[in-house]
Amino acid sequence: MKAVLNIAHRGASGYCPENTMAAFERCIELGATAIETDVQMTADGRLVLIHDESLQRTTGLPKLVKDVTGDELWELDAGSWFSPAFKGERVPTLEDLFELVKSRSLQVNLELKNGVVQYPGIEEAVIEATRRFGMSDRVILSSFNHYSLAHCKRLAPEIRTGILYMEGLYEPWEYAARFGASALHAYHYAVIPEWVSQAAARGMAYHPFTVNEPAEMRRLIQAGVAGIITDYPDRLAELLKTM
Ligand code: G3P
Ligand code: CA
Repeated sequence: MKAVLNIAHRGASGYCPENTMAAFERCIELGATAIETDVQMTADGRLVLIHDESLQRTTGLPKLVKDVTGDELWELDAGSWFSPAFKGERVPTLEDLFELVKSRSLQVNLELKNGVVQYPGIEEAVIEATRRFGMSDRVILSSFNHYSLAHCKRLAPEIRTGILYMEGLYEPWEYAARFGASALHAYHYAVIPEWVSQAAARGMAYHPFTVNEPAEMRRLIQAGVAGIITDYPDRLAELLKTM
């Protein structure tokens, strides 16, 4: 069987506060071979890894990421909401993550969160950091904003992109090919085996999200997906040993 990419969703977010260095370090210990994370930009242009556009849920501050500076953000506790054991975890930068993975063989899926809130220049900034760290062949850029992915591809043809979508795309491999994309990041219930085969025949990989139950992981692996995005990389690693 071809190796299936074990993509940790926001790090090991089943066990640690999502999108923190604790979650990224833990997922490596648990057998992840790639890390998925969400990229946004602060008021002073720092690239930071956080899912929600608002800081409320994970830090308690009722402000948007785009309205605070990096220095204001580093003061916030992004771990206690999950468990007191993680008090003091802060919102990491993209550079923090690249520093962690650069000497390892992990891949990185950077989801640009530029849909609800727009971040002019985020594509250029992410590509600059990716190139600066020599990560171009290990990064996959994804987004629900396909205009943004098309822009990324024009700026950096050498960096792979993955089309993020929930459901309902007709022949998504044809759609993704229009953007020069390499992968389909689809909601997992919307992935059926015939489509995986059709996509694979055209060189298009499926990386469904977010798959936490081993039975569903097995179904998708048997269908031939190239990777799985999960909160529990240990579950996927264990399953892969048996297949
Ligand atoms: O990249 C897959 C998945 O992370 C997309 O949804 O909301 O978890 O960022 P979300
Ligand atoms: Ca994401």
